[in-house]
Amino acid sequence: MSEAATPPGSVPGSGSVFPPGFDPIAESAEKTLCFRGFWAWAVLILLIVLGIAIFMWLLRKCIQGPAYRKANRIDGKVVIVTGCNTGIGKETVLELAKRGARVYMACRDAGRCEAARLEIMDRSHNQQLFNRTLDLGSLQSVRNFVERFKAEESRLDLLINNAGIMACPRTLTADGYEQQFGVNHLGHFLLTNLLLDRLKHSSPSRIVVVSSAAHLFGRINREDLMSEKKYGKFFGAYSQSKLANIMFTRKLSTILKNSGVTVNCCHPGVVRTELNRHFSGPGWMKSVLQTGSLYFFKTPKAGAQTSLRLALDPQLETSTGGYYSDCMRWPLVPWARNMETADWLWRESEKLVGLPPLEPPPPPATNQNQNQNQGPTQNGNGTTTQNGNQNGSANSGTREMQSVETVVVNRS
Ligand SMILES: NC(=O)c1ccc[n+]([C@@H]2O[C@H](COP(=O)([O-])OP(=O)(O)OC[C@H]3O[C@@H](n4cnc5c(N)ncnc54)[C@H](OP(=O)(O)O)[C@@H]3O)[C@@H](O)[C@H]2O)c1
Repeated sequence: MSEAATPPGSVPGSGSVFPPGFDPIAESAEKTLCFRGFWAWAVLILLIVLGIAIFMWLLRKCIQGPAYRKANRIDGKVVIVTGCNTGIGKETVLELAKRGARVYMACRDAGRCEAARLEIMDRSHNQQLFNRTLDLGSLQSVRNFVERFKAEESRLDLLINNAGIMACPRTLTADGYEQQFGVNHLGHFLLTNLLLDRLKHSSPSRIVVVSSAAHLFGRINREDLMSEKKYGKFFGAYSQSKLANIMFTRKLSTILKNSGVTVNCCHPGVVRTELNRHFSGPGWMKSVLQTGSLYFFKTPKAGAQTSLRLALDPQLETSTGGYYSDCMRWPLVPWARNMETADWLWRESEKLVGLPPLEPPPPPATNQNQNQNQGPTQNGNGTTTQNGNQNGSANSGTREMQSVETVVVNRS
């Protein structure tokens, strides 16, 4: 008799057709669960790509920050937004217009402003938008703007000091002040002071000041406010002007206490706008920045969200003197909280823009200081102003109103 043929793969004499330790059921289950060869790699690569895409999407969401989502409307409220023909300001106006506001677009270039106004009217279906010329680098232009606005409107519910320039070469405003300090701080300082009576009359009303996290690098240089001795485009002049925005906000909030007018400031985030137009690095760096900003910077719409929350949120009706970023209130660094410097800056700014002093000057500490304080002061413009309070007895609330009217009547 011949021995029975052993099937291929079987172990002779074992009675099994599979090698020892081989479990055909487990093997078949494994085959149904995972792929092998090309498909295994394809699935792995797909999963990695999907993981990266989800991560990038989440990171992009984080970079864009939170949005203001409450649907409250502000139909008929009168609003001024400075520097709103482009960037964050334009997006801010678009949202306010969608919510029914009557917006005065205060821009230095009437042509660019008109183009933005027509686009926003089209997108918001709101016809209550007005193109008004305001060059914050000219104190006369600020006064002309205010005079015209007051002739047109009896109320003002919301003022957004948004316009700004960054890191430009050292140039001077029409009044001879360093451009970034002049536009970002002094122009807005005068504008706001001249509009305070309208804001108080319309209370509850709000002021929003668009500052920047760049204030962290800033110091108020009392000896060289106009950067005449040393000019640093970003870490000097721009940062100082943005710190000045914060000190202005804090000082103004104390002045406006119990008036029904709130004032808050914000950092909009790092936003892809025209703000870096003065950037003068090598071409390749510009290209890298341009490309990187597409992903790593906020869109102008996202950049407008903190301003919008400060302007609109009913929950912030009485909040004042705060610094916000990503729609949240943040504590300030000690040098931005320094009220003695804020007081000094306020008095100095009054002199520089030609407003009468709101408060009496602080009492002189020594005889030597007394002489200095009572004498005439050289301002950054090279002109001489009298450093003294002519109305020391009046209370600050009414004097503020007087100062606004006095300047409007005398200078426009
Ligand atoms: N973008 C950011 O990453 C960032 C970060 C922190 C803070 N900020 C602040 O956000 C605000 C808005 O900036 P943005 O990013 O939207 O920049 P933007 O796109 O350059 O817009 C700035 C606006 O200000 C106007 N402006 C400049 N000089 C003016 C003057 N002398 N008088 C009146 N208007 C003037 C500009 O008008 P023209 O178009 O005619 O020049 C423009 O409409 C600024 O205060 C800026 O400091 C921005």
